[in-house]
Amino acid sequence: MITKINIKKIVLGFAVSLLSLYFFPLMGQATDNQQKAKIVVNADLGVHVISKHIYGHFSEHLGNCIYGGYWVGEDSEIPNTRGIRNDVVEALKKTNIPNLRWPGGCFADEYHWMDGIGPREDRPEMINTHWGGVTEDNSFGTHEFFDLCQQLNTEPVICGNVGSGTVEEMSKWVEYINSDNISPMADLRRKNGQEKAWGIKYWDVGNENWGCGGHMTAEFYADQYKRYATFCRNYGENRLRKIAGGANSNDLNWTETLMKKIPHWMMWGISLHYYTTNWRNKGSATEFGEDLYFDILDRCLNIAEVIDKHITIMDKYDPEKRVALVFDEWGTWYNVEPGTNPGFLFQQNTLRDALVAGLSLNYLNERCERVKMANIAQTVNVLQALIFTKEDKILLTPTYHIFEMYKVHHDATLLPLNLKCGDYEYDGKKLPSLSASASMDADGIIHISIVNIHPEKDIELTLDMRGTKFSKISGRILTSDNFTDHNTFDDPENLKPAVFEDIKMNKNEVAGTIPAKSIIVLEIK
Ligand code: AHR
Repeated sequence: MITKINIKKIVLGFAVSLLSLYFFPLMGQATDNQQKAKIVVNADLGVHVISKHIYGHFSEHLGNCIYGGYWVGEDSEIPNTRGIRNDVVEALKKTNIPNLRWPGGCFADEYHWMDGIGPREDRPEMINTHWGGVTEDNSFGTHEFFDLCQQLNTEPVICGNVGSGTVEEMSKWVEYINSDNISPMADLRRKNGQEKAWGIKYWDVGNENWGCGGHMTAEFYADQYKRYATFCRNYGENRLRKIAGGANSNDLNWTETLMKKIPHWMMWGISLHYYTTNWRNKGSATEFGEDLYFDILDRCLNIAEVIDKHITIMDKYDPEKRVALVFDEWGTWYNVEPGTNPGFLFQQNTLRDALVAGLSLNYLNERCERVKMANIAQTVNVLQALIFTKEDKILLTPTYHIFEMYKVHHDATLLPLNLKCGDYEYDGKKLPSLSASASMDADGIIHISIVNIHPEKDIELTLDMRGTKFSKISGRILTSDNFTDHNTFDDPENLKPAVFEDIKMNKNEVAGTIPAKSIIVLEIK
C-alpha cells in the first residue's frame, strides 16, 4: 500500500541514489582483467515485501517430473512415504519451497480430476497426448498431490481445466477440496479417506488458453473466465485466490483485454509465461560456445522488458496494484538430451542456468510490488529442473543451489539499490555485467544476491551500505571454471556453493572481488 511515509521514502531513496551516482562517476571503467562496480544499498528505505511465492515451483504430468520424480508408489524399493520419494522431499524442503503448481501446463487442460481419485486400481488410464503420448494411469491424483504438499510443507496451487473440462467439473473439484459441508463432493472426499477439507488458496482458471489450453481469443477467454470463476466457490473462511490464465511473453493485447473485461474483484492475479529460449533453434543445454552463452543471458535479461510492459498495462487499469502478476512458467528451454524422449523435455543444467536463475530472481524481487508469485518450470527432471532423479539416485543441479541460496529473500523487505557497473560485450552487443538484489529480513539481517555474468572479468565491487550499521559480513558463492560445467550422476558435486572469502568491510563500505560467471549471496548483520 502506498502511504505518505512510503512516498517520502521513495522520493528520498531516489535523491540519495542520484547523489551517489554523482559522487561515484568512475565506476564501471574496465581494466584488462577486471571491471569495477559500485552498489549503493539504502537499508532504511525498504517499502515492499518480496513474497516468498516468487520462489514457487511448477510440476506437470510430463516426462519424469511426477512419475519417477516425486512418485514411485508405495511398493517401490526407493525410500518413500506413501509413494512419494523421501530424497526429493528432503532436498526441496531445504529450499523452503513456498508453493507447487500442478497438474500442468498443457496437461491441465486435458486432465479430468475425477479419474485421479478413489482406489488406485480402479482409476482409468488415459494417453498424455501433449507429452510423449505415454499412458497416464492416474495413480498420482488429488490426494497424492495434497500429501506431497503436506510433506513439503508448501502451499498447493492447482490449475483447473478450462480447455476440455466443464464449469461443473471445475466447480466440483473446488468443492471436493475445500468444502467441509454435507455435500456430494465433500462426502466423496471423506469416502476416499480425507475427512477435513484441505483448504486450497491458489487456483488457476486454465492454462495457456491462447494455445494448448483451447486456442481461444482473449475476448472469448475473458468471458469463459467469468463463467468458470463464478462457480469456483469460497467455502467456510477460506477465500480462493483465482488466477486468470495470462499471456505468452509479448502478447500485451491478452493482458489488456483481461484487465479491461474481467472485474478485478473476480481475480487475485493474472499469469504470464516467458521461457528463456530461442524457439527457432533451442540449442544444446551443455554444448555451446560464447555466442549461445551471450544469447541466452540476453534473452533472460529481456524478462525485465517483457514484465514491465505487462505491468504498465496493469498499472493503467489497476493503479493500486490489487491484481497480482503471476509469472507462473519461466526458465530455460533447450533441445532434449540426445537419446531421450523428445516429449519428456529432459535437459541438463549448467552454470549458465544458474546465472539465468539468479538474474531472473533478482528481477522478480525488484518488481515484487506487482509480481506476487512465480513458478520455475519445472522442479524435477523437466526443463530448468532443480533436481534430477535416476532410479534411487538424486542429483542437485546448479539451479537448485540458487534457489537454496536465495531463500533468504523469502518474505523479506526489498531494499532499493543503485548499481553502476561495466558491460559484458560480445559481437558488438552489450549487457550489464552485474545484477543485484538486496533485502532485509524480519531480524534486520540484510542479504544481497549478486550475479556477474561476464565470462572472463572479475569485478572489483564496492558496496556502500547506507542507513544501517553492521559488524559482520559473510557470503556464499556458486561458480565454476567453465560456463558449460554441470553436475552428473558420476560427479554430482562438481558445482555446489562454497564459502565466499573475498570480502572485507571498512566502516559502512564493503569491498570484494566478484569472480567472472558467479552468483554470490552476502549476509550483512
Ligand atoms: O512447461 C512445459 C509447457 O510449456 C507447459 O505445459 C505449457 O504451459 C508451456 O507451453
